[in-house]
Amino acid sequence: MDKLLIAGGIPLSGEVAISGAKNAALPLLCAALLTKEPVTFTNVPHLNDIGTMLKLLAQMGVRVTREAEKVPAGTHSAGAGDTVTLDAAGLNNAVAPYEMVKTMRASILVLGPLVARAGEARVSLPGGCAIGARPVDQHIKGLTAMGAEIAVEHGYVHARAARLKGARLFTDMVTVTGTENLMMAACLAQGETVIENAAREPEVVDLANCLVAMGARISGAGGDVIRIQGVDALHGATHRIMPDRIETGTYLCAAAATGGEVRLTGASATSLDAVIDKLMDTGCEIIAERDAIRLRAPPRLTAVSIRTAPYPAFPTDMQAQFMAINAVAEGTAVMRETIFENRFMHAVELIRLGADIKIDGNTAFVTGRPKLDGATVMATDLRASASLVIAGLVAQGETLIERIYHLDRGYEGLEHKLAALGADIRRVK
Ligand code: EPZ
Repeated sequence: MDKLLIAGGIPLSGEVAISGAKNAALPLLCAALLTKEPVTFTNVPHLNDIGTMLKLLAQMGVRVTREAEKVPAGTHSAGAGDTVTLDAAGLNNAVAPYEMVKTMRASILVLGPLVARAGEARVSLPGGCAIGARPVDQHIKGLTAMGAEIAVEHGYVHARAARLKGARLFTDMVTVTGTENLMMAACLAQGETVIENAAREPEVVDLANCLVAMGARISGAGGDVIRIQGVDALHGATHRIMPDRIETGTYLCAAAATGGEVRLTGASATSLDAVIDKLMDTGCEIIAERDAIRLRAPPRLTAVSIRTAPYPAFPTDMQAQFMAINAVAEGTAVMRETIFENRFMHAVELIRLGADIKIDGNTAFVTGRPKLDGATVMATDLRASASLVIAGLVAQGETLIERIYHLDRGYEGLEHKLAALGADIRRVK
């Protein structure tokens, strides 16, 4: 099992490129199931989750071709995405097996496209993960409302529909992949589908833009009501994956916590307003360029309280990283996690590094300390791991982070990018 060894105390400085967004790429790859024609994606990040999704699609009969984009000589490979072409003409196996789905919950995103394109699907229930139960009842409720016959048995969702019918859907809570699954299914349904209480995340908009390029008729994506007029078939398209706003936010937090100054290229500030607002509240100076973001940290950060909520509010995927910032900031922060029921696993590991954190239900009270001390800590989930990396970059002495396969799922070339920013970090066996 790989580990990351970090010698902390070095302010980050310099420039790195932001990769394509994991949470945009995952639904987009599934959208290729909706057509018999090839769909090409550029700026695809080189991540384990992407590899898992491509394997899942290939075992369904989708032809996958992937080539690394030529990186100009001298620039480091991380950040130059791959070009992936998917051809689902030969789709012949509408099954997402347990052994693949259990490693990546986002596999549930094949459900809607398979029912819409093939008229049936057998998808393993994703099961929970470290941060929560992660049910998919809203995905099932929506497809049922569109006329699919769905049985959940032996740990699989069996869905069947000769042709889905447009319907008025209302999700009980805002669900990102729920919105994405239903929007994809509705593209080939008979008639109009309206999704109320839809997720407004930028990744939903990126997916809608690609579906429209493929011939879908969608309006309202980015708002909380999305209208889809079903069509008989979609055609191929080429689509560039949007920049990863959570990767961007993570590097901004690392620069802030270490008192550094960085420039992130290929980053878009427009999808990060809530995060940038909070970073400015900590005392950071942030300059948004056309497709880059610059941050300069103050000598000592000021603690900021946050409350996670669906976009455009503060994203739950940035909560752990801000807990690392608050662990060394001046003052006490109150951090409320309203999306997932168990997303404070990083707190106990931060406490091992000397942080002063008290957890009470879904609220964490963090009192900043002047410094943290390096120690051995264990990653539990993707964003918790990022939080431990940030804390390790700040802590005095060495920090060894175990189980970093969590990191490899969602951060492309993390140690290379951080080393390019001056960090003393390396992967050890
Ligand atoms: C997406 O997960 C992201 N994953 C998550 O990012 C992100 O944390 C989450 O949205 C919230 O923004 C991808 O996009 C691949 P939800 P998703 O459905 O869609 C409950 C990361 O680190 N719910 O919006 O699974 C659910 O339990 C990952 O990159 C139901 O109860 O999240 C949660 O409490 C982690 N029933 C809340 O809604 C359902 O049918 C929001 O979940 C669906 C969701």
